[in-house]
Amino acid sequence: MDRDILKAFLENHEVTPSYIFDTDVLCSRIQQIQNILEDKAAVCYAMKANPFLVQALSGIVDKFEVCSPGEFRICERNGADMSKVVLSGVYKNPMDTIRTVEVYGDKITYTVESRTQFELLKECAVKTGKKLPILIRLNCGGNQFGVDRETLEEIVRKETTCKYLRIKGIQMFSGTQKKKLRQIEQELQMLDAYCTELMEKYGFYVQELEYGPGLYVSYFTNEEDESETQLLELKRILEGMRFRGEITLEMGRFIAAGCGTYVTSVVDIKEIEGRRICIVNGGINHVNYYGQTMAMRTPRVEQMPDRNGETDKYMVYGALCTTGDLLLKQFPLTDVRLGDVLVFHDIGAYSVTESMYLFLSRDLPSVYLYSEDTGFELVRPARPTDVLNAIR
Ligand SMILES: Cc1ncc(COP(=O)(O)O)c(C=O)c1O
Repeated sequence: MDRDILKAFLENHEVTPSYIFDTDVLCSRIQQIQNILEDKAAVCYAMKANPFLVQALSGIVDKFEVCSPGEFRICERNGADMSKVVLSGVYKNPMDTIRTVEVYGDKITYTVESRTQFELLKECAVKTGKKLPILIRLNCGGNQFGVDRETLEEIVRKETTCKYLRIKGIQMFSGTQKKKLRQIEQELQMLDAYCTELMEKYGFYVQELEYGPGLYVSYFTNEEDESETQLLELKRILEGMRFRGEITLEMGRFIAAGCGTYVTSVVDIKEIEGRRICIVNGGINHVNYYGQTMAMRTPRVEQMPDRNGETDKYMVYGALCTTGDLLLKQFPLTDVRLGDVLVFHDIGAYSVTESMYLFLSRDLPSVYLYSEDTGFELVRPARPTDVLNAIR
């Protein structure tokens, strides 16, 4: 986020810690993805990366990967285009699933991660008289997700003529932060060959492949942003596929990371045995850069306001009572004073959802959305967590 915009924000909003999600940056990111990939793939936003972006993305992404009843309710409340929802997730509880099918029926797509889920969806379809479109999630790497080939093929063999479920295709996601496109290429080649095999063996035509590439995001100061190269390479891989159905790329981090900024204030400065220490009012309970533990790597961080004077290296800790709450190691700060703000960039994905918010019962940061047209909008005020951590 632009320094002048942040300056204006800090002059008018004294509450830190806060997240700011810039929806202009978010929209440009989607445009970049769509411009490079052209019509080679549809774009699905995996909302677990940051649910606050659903509304802004509703008109511009093709789908939302929604993994829990809570995420589903967020889509409903935030006016998302529900026809774009792919209801995913390793646990689909019967009560919520039947309600979803009753209300949305075949307008949304459902993933199947087990025989149990297949039967549950079939039951819901029978009850409501709706034929539900499904994607079967193929396991990758022996974890708990999806089904193995044997189960997938058994479903395909027995159920392609099922009156209640329409098997549209396959979903697969094997992991995040893949630095090497080679792994993505191998996975897509495997899926490509598998689609041919399913046709040859069972006469089953895969109409749709929904694949999460887990594209890499460069968070740290010694890394170059390689987004464009990654997308061009991905396009080349997609062009090399024989598969002629629809390909959808499920992405979270790659879409959301760059639009987020986190601001936290310096609340104490001290020296312990010659080591300079700076304490901020946020901490690792709000900040989650994949691959950063104990500040071993330095994310992009700025000090505000601009100061002239001595620059010294500080250990920057958060406000949690754990030695693990180290945000930055030997980080240069210039004439740092109480009330100065540290600005963490590229925080748009997973920090707002995956951090350890309840530890020490500190407040949840406030959340703002920003765009040039609408300015800053407070979409969640800071919230206490002591109410969640106590008997009453
Ligand atoms: C099924 C599924 N699809 C897509 C994603 C998004 O991954 P990423 O944030 O690496 O793009 C995830 C992340 O956990 C996922 O579980």
